[in-house]
Amino acid sequence: MTDATTVEAPVNRAKRAPPTAEEIEEARAKKQKLQKPEGMSKSEWKRQLKHQRWEESKDEYRQIKREKKKAAAKRKKESDIVVPKKKIPETQTPTDVSVIMDCDFDDYMSYKEIVSLSNQITRAYSSRRHSDYQVDLTITSFNKNLKQRFDNALSHYKHWQNIQFVESESLAAYLPEDTSKHVYLTADTEEEIQDLEPGYTYIIGGIVDKNRHKKLCLNKAKELGLKVARLPIGKYIEMNGRHVLATSHVYELLCKYFETNKDWGKAFDEVLPPRKVKGKVESGEKETEGGEENDDEEEEEVGEEESLQKVADGQSVPAENNA
Ligand SMILES: C[S@@+](CC[C@H](N)C(=O)[O-])C[C@H]1O[C@@H](n2cnc3c(N)ncnc32)[C@H](O)[C@@H]1O
Repeated sequence: MTDATTVEAPVNRAKRAPPTAEEIEEARAKKQKLQKPEGMSKSEWKRQLKHQRWEESKDEYRQIKREKKKAAAKRKKESDIVVPKKKIPETQTPTDVSVIMDCDFDDYMSYKEIVSLSNQITRAYSSRRHSDYQVDLTITSFNKNLKQRFDNALSHYKHWQNIQFVESESLAAYLPEDTSKHVYLTADTEEEIQDLEPGYTYIIGGIVDKNRHKKLCLNKAKELGLKVARLPIGKYIEMNGRHVLATSHVYELLCKYFETNKDWGKAFDEVLPPRKVKGKVESGEKETEGGEENDDEEEEEVGEEESLQKVADGQSVPAENNA
């Protein structure tokens, strides 16, 4: 068989300087030397050529990939908004509104999604502490993989104040007998919230699933005989993609509702990441058909305990502050 290892690798031609006349001539000569070995099928010949081209170019390809990755990481780091540490208010105005994050969905999530949910709870905790209004937060069914994730990566949570982690078997086991003032929040209903009512408890589904499990929370609420409601998003803003938000955004919105003197429009404006709001994409940011957690919120790997604690302390918030 002709030695085809001399075939010119077509990697990243677009980025290279145009070939010189000599290079073109050389490539042509090399190509002419290549002949399909007798008896070999055309497709096998093509496959072999492709493989050889890959073998020749893979180091260069990997190098380029490494550089791209480095550049992307650098860009991300530079775009991170370092929010000046907001002081934790000495006192919070009571609202008589409380929130349950129903975390009985471990079995519906991949490990990565559990990590993402733990990061979202960390953000919610940060909102809980930094808000000027007191919106009590309880994490229920904290008893399986999510708890393990916290135990392993964020053991500081055991010292967190003003948040309750409840190891209840299920949401039902935690709820009182009279649930007439409990509302399960879900994007899957036409019922829309107007105000957050004193004495009421709002339940957020503690799940990260890119909305794979449609109506999961709606159906659960129905089974438990709970009222359901969605946030009045459409009334105030036009969103890119679905109206399904990340748990941390929903909790933060509820706090922001009070901080903005009960102005949902302002609350959405302040909490939702620009990429989720039509016409609000900042330069350099990609407008996406957003699910509840795109990308980096979904995949956000705050990771290290120290970094997570910083998020809880409100020291550094990635620009997307996702979902
Ligand atoms: C990522 S979503 C979960 C989506 C899930 N497939 C479901 O069945 O709800 C996390 C939770 O945030 C709350 N949520 C998200 N978007 C909402 C919206 N537009 N209105 C009300 N609640 C919302 C709901 O409680 C929801 O369960």
